[in-house]
Amino acid sequence: MEKKLSFLGIETSCDETAASIVQENKDGTAKILSSVVSSQIKEHEKFGGVVPELAARSHIENIEFIVSKALKEADVKIDEISGVAATAGPGLIVCLTVGLNFGKAIAGFADKPFVAVNHLEGHALSPGLSGNIKFPYLLLLVSGGHSQFLIVENINQYKQLGTTIDDALGEAFDKTAKMLDLGYPGGPAVEKFAQKGDKNYFKLPQPIINKAGCNLSFAGLKTAVLRESKKIKNNNQLKYNLAASFQETIINILRKKTEIAFNEFIKFNGSKNKTFVVAGGVAANESIRISLKEIAKKNNFKPVFADIKYCGDNAAMIAWAGIQRYKKKLTNNLDVEPKSRWPLDSKAKFMKGPGLKL
Ligand SMILES: Nc1ncnc2c1ncn2[C@@H]1O[C@H](COP(=O)(O)OP(=O)(O)OP(=O)(O)O)[C@@H](O)[C@H]1O
Ligand SMILES: [Mg+2]
Repeated sequence: MEKKLSFLGIETSCDETAASIVQENKDGTAKILSSVVSSQIKEHEKFGGVVPELAARSHIENIEFIVSKALKEADVKIDEISGVAATAGPGLIVCLTVGLNFGKAIAGFADKPFVAVNHLEGHALSPGLSGNIKFPYLLLLVSGGHSQFLIVENINQYKQLGTTIDDALGEAFDKTAKMLDLGYPGGPAVEKFAQKGDKNYFKLPQPIINKAGCNLSFAGLKTAVLRESKKIKNNNQLKYNLAASFQETIINILRKKTEIAFNEFIKFNGSKNKTFVVAGGVAANESIRISLKEIAKKNNFKPVFADIKYCGDNAAMIAWAGIQRYKKKLTNNLDVEPKSRWPLDSKAKFMKGPGLKL
């Protein structure tokens, strides 16, 4: 009988130590045999953000336990898996090194193929953990470090349509939470308190809303939140109103820019197979999900969201990307190095810094 493909995935690019075993079913769908994620929220909470050296130390302390737990929960032995995949970038080098080296060591000793995965490709393919999706599709990737519209043509084949020219969306949520003293991590906190607020109370700016195609910008919005937050001091209701108005402004920006991206996708692929995928940590936001589903349906795009469990960082998406790359013979040697910057579309223009023309 033909053996099913299964991979061990390892993720340590930021503040989550994660390991997972994923198997590919005969029909090309995924079966997640285990997905262990150990978050370092408690360690970074008091600093209001990730401290790289602390994160790296914590990965070193946890990695062996987390990988063993993933194997145990899946009830498989290293000998039985088809290969090992680990995140090699983008991210904090001190953190990436831990999972990457651990993965390389296992692959080396067990004599298994090794795949160095781009964390963003993990997010980009993550909705595939819940069901088959046909290429090409339009992707909105919104996470802690990235906010991009891309056409996913195939595994390893991406065309960037737009990106943030300053802050990432997750970062804007995190900073807003910090300014309003709502807690860490910021995204879920802003979402929770926004429910208690009036989304129309504050009129906030929507940077580059009428220019620069589907590129995004959130820095001006963040500055406006800072300005308003200083005026409201300890008035809780006004804080909730500001959180709600911030989230509503984000939703309006995303709706407008998504429609521009829809047109770009149609120019590229015609009107067939119009699928719109949303992935990354911010895709867990319920109001954003509802609103983007609505705009997709209005434009006859099929909306597909990563399962909430697999929006934030996890290793199931890394194991899955590993399987897909392995099938395309995109494996790596064991001397592969971690990369702090690693765009999915290597031809895309770098959109940050002074002198940027929009
Ligand atoms: N419900 C939510 N609403 C809004 N933002 C959220 C929500 N849940 C999580 N986030 C945000 O998602 C981000 C984390 O996502 P993710 O783990 O994908 O990012 P990352 O791995 O740090 O960055 P990247 O993937 O770009 O390297 C954080 O900024 C967090 O605040
Ligand atoms: Mg991520």
